[in-house]
Amino acid sequence: MAERVVVHEVGLRDGLQNQPRIVPVEGKLELLDALIAAGVRSIETTSFVSPKAVPQMADAAELCARIPRRADVNYEVLVPNEKGYERAVAAGAPTIALVLAATDTFNRRNINMSLDQAIAVCLTVIARARVDGVKPRVYIAVAPACPYEGNTPDDVVFTLAARLFDAGAAEIAVADSIGAGNPAQIGRLFETLARRHGPERLAAHFHDTRGLALTHTWVALQCGIRKFDSSIGGLGGCPFAPGVTGNLATEDLVFMLNEAGFETGIDMMALRAAVGVAEAKVGHPLGGRIMGWYRSQEQRQAAKANAN
Ligand code: COA
Ligand code: ZN
Repeated sequence: MAERVVVHEVGLRDGLQNQPRIVPVEGKLELLDALIAAGVRSIETTSFVSPKAVPQMADAAELCARIPRRADVNYEVLVPNEKGYERAVAAGAPTIALVLAATDTFNRRNINMSLDQAIAVCLTVIARARVDGVKPRVYIAVAPACPYEGNTPDDVVFTLAARLFDAGAAEIAVADSIGAGNPAQIGRLFETLARRHGPERLAAHFHDTRGLALTHTWVALQCGIRKFDSSIGGLGGCPFAPGVTGNLATEDLVFMLNEAGFETGIDMMALRAAVGVAEAKVGHPLGGRIMGWYRSQEQRQAAKANAN
C-alpha cells in the first residue's frame, strides 16, 4: 500500500496574511470549500494575532465560527501569545500553532519579544494547552536562516526542539520561513531531529523564495518526514521578512508526491480549480510551476484536436 503523506494547507493564513487585498470571510470560506473538495484534510485556517499587526487576519473569530465542522478535517490556527491562545480557545480551536523564531531579532520583529521572552511565552502556552486538551504545534521559524542574523546554527534548533518537546509540544514544524536554507542544512536538521524525537512528531514548512522548496521536501521525505506545509497557488510571504515569496505551492507538492507514489488523498484537477478560486480572491495570477506544464499539455491537446 502507498505510504500516506499529510499535506497541511497554510495558504489561508501564511498566504493571505501577506496579500494587499483583504479577502473577506465569504471569500476565505469559498477557498476553504475548494480545498476540502480537492481532498485537503489538514488546514491552518487563520491566526489570532493583533489586527493592527496583520489586518488580513482580523476576522479570525468570525471565520472560525463559520467554518464547516467536519470530523475528517484537521483545523489549526496560529497564535503568537497568551491573548491569541485565549482567543483561539474561545473560538473552539482544537489545535494551535505557536510560532517561535530561532533568532532574537526575528522574534522582536515578528512578535515584539526577545528570544527568551518568546520561549517563556511558548512554554506557558504549551502548558495551558495541555491542561485544556488543546493540541500544541510549534513552528521553529527561520530554522535554517534568518533575514537579520544570517544562518542559524543547527544546535540552536536542536536545543529549542528538545525544550519544546520536553514541555509537551505535540508537533514541531521546522520552518524555512524565508526560503534561504539549502538542502544540506535541511538534511542535517531533519536527520538529527527525526532520530532524536521521531519523524512522526515533525513537520516541514518550506518557502520557495529560491526555488528549493521541492528539493527540501524530498530531502525531508528521505529523513522520514510525512507532514508538509504548503499553500495553494504558492500564495504567501511574510510581512516581517521583506522580499520573501510564498510557501511551496500545494499543487507542486501534491504533484510530486502523487508521481512518487505517495498517497495524499488529493485530486490534482480539483486542486487546480482551488488555485483558480485563490486567484479570483486575491485578484492576481497564482500557481506553482506545475501549472505551466498543465497549460502547455492542454494547449498541445487543443492544437492536435484542431488539426484533426
Ligand atoms: N490578538 C489580538 N490582539 C492582541 C493580541 C492578539 N493575540 N496580542 C496583543 N493584542 C493587543 C493588545 O490587547 C493591545 O491592544 P490595545 O492596544 O487595544 O490595548 C495591543 O495588541 C498591544 O499589545 P501588546 O501585548 O503590547 O502587543 P505588541 O504590540 O507587543 O504586539 C503581537 C505583539 C504578538 C500581538 C504582535 O506583534 C502580533 O500580532 N504579531 C503577529 C505577527 C504575525 O502574524 N506574523 C506572521 C505569522 S508568524
Ligand atoms: Zn511560512
